[in-house]
Amino acid sequence: MNHAISRNGNCVIKADGLAAGKGVTVVDNDDVERAITAIEQAMIQKVFGEAGKTVIIEERLFGEEASIMIFVDGEHYLIMPSSQDHKSIFDGDKGPNTGGMGAYSPAHMITPQMMQQIEDKIVKPNEEIDYHGVLYIGLIITADGPKVLEYNVRFGDPETQVVVPRIKNDIVPIMLACIDGTLDQHRLEIDERAAVCVVLASHGYPGKYEKGKVIDGLKYVRQIADSMIFHAGTKIVGGQVVTDGGRVLGATALGEDLAQAYDRAYQLAGLVDFQGKYYRTDIGQKALRHLNAR
Ligand code: GLY
Repeated sequence: MNHAISRNGNCVIKADGLAAGKGVTVVDNDDVERAITAIEQAMIQKVFGEAGKTVIIEERLFGEEASIMIFVDGEHYLIMPSSQDHKSIFDGDKGPNTGGMGAYSPAHMITPQMMQQIEDKIVKPNEEIDYHGVLYIGLIITADGPKVLEYNVRFGDPETQVVVPRIKNDIVPIMLACIDGTLDQHRLEIDERAAVCVVLASHGYPGKYEKGKVIDGLKYVRQIADSMIFHAGTKIVGGQVVTDGGRVLGATALGEDLAQAYDRAYQLAGLVDFQGKYYRTDIGQKALRHLNAR
């Protein structure tokens, strides 16, 4: 607590355990009260359960976040296309963090030069680690270059929904090569098109929400070019698909550019329906503004 006060806020407070991506509070300068609330919520009210028994208070970094996932076979690696998650529940990156409300790929600030820096400074130094599988690197691109926020030994969600559709290879031989240590015999064939995924969530998420709402309009995926739906929190009851989680579906589309992928994904997000459906309306918008300004 004293550390957060001595920093006058201006820090990031993290539950030290696994909190489904929700255990992070970014505290503005001068907002000591928010820092105290975040620490109390984690350690006293135990809103993240045991995950918040210990909290970590870190320096706050400024920049845009990006996700890089790599296939690793203990010696070699293959870098997947970049992406950007949208973690806050509300448009404009407002409100509490969620597991991710949508993503797009490629991330606009990961230019070929930036990707080279990431490879040289972050990916290559990890070559020594004898790990086989998918390594997720959560980055922030600061004025001083890319910095690592987190590593996960798994695919990212919802990043995977926009990254894997851009990989043209059959992914199974790549996975097997991760196990066998033969990734050097493969290279990724990347679809140059952009992808957008809009997460359709249950009203109330990331807080309390109801389940069991009938989902209509899944058939529209067949009418919207290059679109797909990823099921997350759904189940079948009596032959009907119903909601069964906070993040229910990922309405996803590829497009010749980000604008087309955005239009297609949002067309699908509007047509698929269930009671209490909530989604952000600005997935990839910041990137579109940057790209239009170039
Ligand atoms: N989208 C963040 C994660 O998968 O950790």
